[in-house]
Amino acid sequence: MEDRPKLLILYATQTGNALDAAERVGREAERRGCSVKLLSMDEYDVSSLPHEDTVIFVASTTGQGDTPDSMKVFWRFLLQRNLSKHWLEGVHYAVFGLGDSGYQKYNFVAKKLDKRLADLGAVAVVEKGLGDDQHPSGYEAALDPWMSSLWSILNKINPKFFPQGSYLAIPDMKLIDQPKVQITYHGDDNVDSQLPTNPDLKWIEMQIGWARSMSPGKFTHDKTRPGCFLKMIKNQPLTRAGCGKDVRHFEFEFVSSVIEYVAGGVLEVLPSQDSAAVDAFIQRCSLDPDALITVHPREKDNHFLHTCTIAKVPIKLKTFVELTMDVASASPRRYFFEVISYYATAPHEKERLQYFASPEGRDDLYQYNQKERRTVLEVLEDFPSVKMPFEWLVQLVPPLKTRAFSISSSPSAHPNQVHLTVDVVSWTTPFKRKRSGLCSMWLAKLHPEQSIYVPAWFRKGTLPLPPPSLPLILIGPGTGCAPFRGFVEERAIQSESNATAPVIFFFGCRNEENDFLYRDFWLSHSQEGGVLSEAKGGGFFVAFSRDQPQKVYVQHKMRENSRAIWKLLSKGAAVYVAGSSTKMPSDVLSAFEDIVSTEGGLSKESAVRWLRALEKAGSYHVEAWS
Ligand code: 2AM
Repeated sequence: MEDRPKLLILYATQTGNALDAAERVGREAERRGCSVKLLSMDEYDVSSLPHEDTVIFVASTTGQGDTPDSMKVFWRFLLQRNLSKHWLEGVHYAVFGLGDSGYQKYNFVAKKLDKRLADLGAVAVVEKGLGDDQHPSGYEAALDPWMSSLWSILNKINPKFFPQGSYLAIPDMKLIDQPKVQITYHGDDNVDSQLPTNPDLKWIEMQIGWARSMSPGKFTHDKTRPGCFLKMIKNQPLTRAGCGKDVRHFEFEFVSSVIEYVAGGVLEVLPSQDSAAVDAFIQRCSLDPDALITVHPREKDNHFLHTCTIAKVPIKLKTFVELTMDVASASPRRYFFEVISYYATAPHEKERLQYFASPEGRDDLYQYNQKERRTVLEVLEDFPSVKMPFEWLVQLVPPLKTRAFSISSSPSAHPNQVHLTVDVVSWTTPFKRKRSGLCSMWLAKLHPEQSIYVPAWFRKGTLPLPPPSLPLILIGPGTGCAPFRGFVEERAIQSESNATAPVIFFFGCRNEENDFLYRDFWLSHSQEGGVLSEAKGGGFFVAFSRDQPQKVYVQHKMRENSRAIWKLLSKGAAVYVAGSSTKMPSDVLSAFEDIVSTEGGLSKESAVRWLRALEKAGSYHVEAWS
């Protein structure tokens, strides 16, 4: 028993997906009898790495190929020049990355980590696995086969990992895991009279904030992410009614404290849930909405780090569900199906759920779950024999998360206010269910007259506010124009007192009549003396994609105006690209490559290098969302 090796799993997560993946690897290993230790990279002393036997790394790539925050120290250590190429000799490793192939630097973190570990003498036991967000069944499509190879190779290298004599999972799928939280029910009498029945922002941050931020303790009172309440003062459609798109301009006023933000930043909003869905969930799970509960982590289970929501002071069960459990969240994870399969009492339900949870059932689960975007509540309603302890529900129902939006105002132009430009998303599933985005729909239904306070947090995005002397080339189709409205407002104010550098902006939408967002705003700033006016060396170009038989996109307009672009690039302009992540950023980059090549008289390879240098110098920024 003593010489039984332990599998160390180190993960780095930004939004929680890499943690999910790492937990899954850990659970699968334990199911095979393997002993596991799971840690976030920032909890691990990286100087001990040479003493490890086998380490599994699970790391996501964020933004522009960046490491998650929790990996920064770890990575800096590994990059030190004085580490010898034998430093990790004798260490076995495997890397699984989570990324999005819609981005240029797809899985960059996993790739560079893999290379660095090998350069330091460690030996990869399996080829790195690369999970892709763009894949219909997400990163799991790559994780399953990667794990299968991992177990079989680990078994070859050292069969002691699997003391049962087999690296196959325990065939009789017992639920060996325990919920990670414990719930205490309180009688009325022993509870403080100051119950947070209507919790304030600090309460939200203190009690549940850390669960969402993924880094316990770092969220509350965080100077880099100050929070406050906002009140909506304007809710204005920017698109023509019935045109198939609904984009809104929202204006908010600060109500609790005024927060100093910069144009181009990000606002995270915590939405409220549909109360009918919350009631239905409570009823389906046979819970008592008025019960007073506290929720604690289960102490002895700590080696699996988790992100469960806690409540230190007694709170009404219904309030807890409302504030922390996203009951309408779509497509619960496979682990949810695994656990509920254990609690199904009807044999046919149990069988179906077990099949869904197995690798063979992955495609059918995808059809049932992801494609149809079934909500947690709908799944529970489809399997009525499932009776599950509330502890498991607290753990498995995804936490209600904040949603991030690019800020579309300049604080200098609108003191005490912050504006958002939000696509109110709704769609119909293959089985004709109507779906909508929780946060955007909630905001769209708010009336400025209502005194509803919106909990919100400010943070930096990937678009730094440019100084007035920097020439700008902005590309922002659709709601990608949001941060640039803020930039243009900011520059208009700066230009009142000082000379400012030229700005050109490429906007794109479907039709001139339907979704030309902020049309009057752009046109007025393009007129004589405006920030985007020709007189100031600027420009405003718009591509209507559906006003003619063939598509016209921002990149077409860029190519048509290649001379103006090259002129600004030669003057040291910075490029900012914002908008939908799918293909636009890479299409825009290719347009730039063509322009630099033709106008600058460079070969294609040199143009690519030229743009790479621009990016390295911090002058090519992309903020993309899906
Ligand atoms: P489409 O919907 O007609 O294809 C804002 O969403 C605008 O961006 C729309 O006009 C949309 O056009 C356009 N768009 C879609 N894909 C794009 C791409 N790859 N590059 C640039 N614009 C794109």
